Amino acid sequence: MSLKERIAILISGRGSNMEALIKASQKPSFPASVELVISNNPDALGLDRAREYGIATQVIDHHDFGKDRQAHERQIDAVLQAYAISTICLAGYMRILTSFLINHWPNQILNIHPSILPLFPGLDTHAKALDAGMKVHGCTVHIVNEIMDQGPILGQAVIPILPNDTSLTLAKRLLEQEHVLYPRVLKRFLRGDEIETTADALING
Ligand code: GRF
Repeated sequence: MSLKERIAILISGRGSNMEALIKASQKPSFPASVELVISNNPDALGLDRAREYGIATQVIDHHDFGKDRQAHERQIDAVLQAYAISTICLAGYMRILTSFLINHWPNQILNIHPSILPLFPGLDTHAKALDAGMKVHGCTVHIVNEIMDQGPILGQAVIPILPNDTSLTLAKRLLEQEHVLYPRVLKRFLRGDEIETTADALING
């Protein structure tokens, strides 16, 4: 009998972090299995990827709920309950959660954000880091609370910004570190290991 925690991943697009979590979770020693992928976007590329791994997928399109964000989340919540999910990983999920879902899943929703939070919350983080003249950039896995991109930090990875970097090159190099960091932090989080608030430096080159 599997003692693994039952994870759901919420996506809106490509799903490369989703795939990194799925791959990690397939190892017997990983404390979680990905049971469900939910997308608000019917065209999300990650949906096909998830299906290739044999994982259940659900599209819950926010357009079907008009401006009623809570109704959209009530539907998500119902599906999460139906699959007996215990932890939710946001992975490129491009909707800001309302207090409804956050309060139903206290300290059970994780997110990965492509910056060294609390620097550069929101979108366009790579351009923001370049514009600010940063010499390093990074990504953060954090617990989702009511303040966007500002919940408790669980782990961070840092990379150098190179002289010729553009938003695209930076995003590409950082994504490789995201794929390492997210499973690693999730594993530690689920085991109840000490939460690290300092950077897990994964500096390349
Ligand atoms: C990643 O950069 C992640 O940090 C951010 O959105 C992007 C999603 O990419 N939240 P993917 O869908 O996981 O490939």
